Amino acid sequence: MIELKEYLAGRSAVVDRALDRFLPKANVKPATIHKAMRYSLFAGGKRLRPVLCLAAAEACGGELEAALPAACAVECLHTYSLIHDDLPCMDNDDFRRGRPTSHKVYGEGIAVLAGDALLTQAFEVLTASAGSARYPTAALVRELAEAAGSRQLIAGQVADLEGEGKKATLRDLKFIHEAKTAALLTASIRLGGMSANATPKKLEALTGFGKNLGLAFQVIDDILDVTQTSEKLGKSAGKDVAAQKTTYPALLGLEKSRKEARRLTDASLSALKPLGKTADTLRAIGAYLLEREY
Ligand code: IPE
Ligand code: IPE
Ligand code: MG
Ligand code: MG
Ligand code: MG
Repeated sequence: MIELKEYLAGRSAVVDRALDRFLPKANVKPATIHKAMRYSLFAGGKRLRPVLCLAAAEACGGELEAALPAACAVECLHTYSLIHDDLPCMDNDDFRRGRPTSHKVYGEGIAVLAGDALLTQAFEVLTASAGSARYPTAALVRELAEAAGSRQLIAGQVADLEGEGKKATLRDLKFIHEAKTAALLTASIRLGGMSANATPKKLEALTGFGKNLGLAFQVIDDILDVTQTSEKLGKSAGKDVAAQKTTYPALLGLEKSRKEARRLTDASLSALKPLGKTADTLRAIGAYLLEREY
């Protein structure tokens, strides 16, 4: 476990240095927007998506460097989705990544624009990827666009908002979580594989890993919202019940939700079988995420 923690810290540092290179400096005009982008991006997120992207590339025999643009792109996109998710018109949250949310510091207008800018930045950064023999850069751009677009991430956010205060079926709930969270997580992992010129068989294994792990990740996020403190999470806890969100604990209760997270994690690990030992780091990250407390 200590080893994995060191690994995650090391990879996060690699990602942070690359993000710092890719993003406009804080004093570039207009400074407000560049400060706001960096405020949310460098607030201490777990960097889970970029780290998974890099580990997936390595599991397919690729070089870290080649996957870095994709890793940074998914983190920019994820951070935009958090800034907008926290807006008063969405989840209305004051606290994120251990600090006041973007709109609390910069006002709603700049927070909307910082999100817009990070979303756009993600695609600019992704074009720094050379792609690979099987997957040209355009295929990578399409991968990210589909995961972030109105049939996936946005679709999930729409269903999440429209589901507030309503009774949902397990099927509705699964759709929300797969779309708002698992799609980008899966794309992050696939983009690593694509940067490494993964064979179709290996990419399929990564896809199965990502879909199950991504769903497990959001089930665990729902559980932590009920069981952890805001201090521990670095974001406001207990808000899903308050907003009458459609969540796993709300629908199944905590025990069944935990069981489901375990089942999904096991399924994600099984999917990695075709990758053999090269996927051991991915396995370790998957197992760690099931036990995470924030
Ligand atoms: C939070 O994602 C939003 C969800 C999709 C559950 P993370 O838990 O990865 O947040 P950061 O990046 O560490 O802040
Ligand atoms: C966020 O889901 C999903 C996206 C940002 C796309 P949540 O609303 O559950 O995330 P948190 O709990 O605010 O981090
Ligand atoms: Mg939300
Ligand atoms: Mg939220
Ligand atoms: Mg949540």
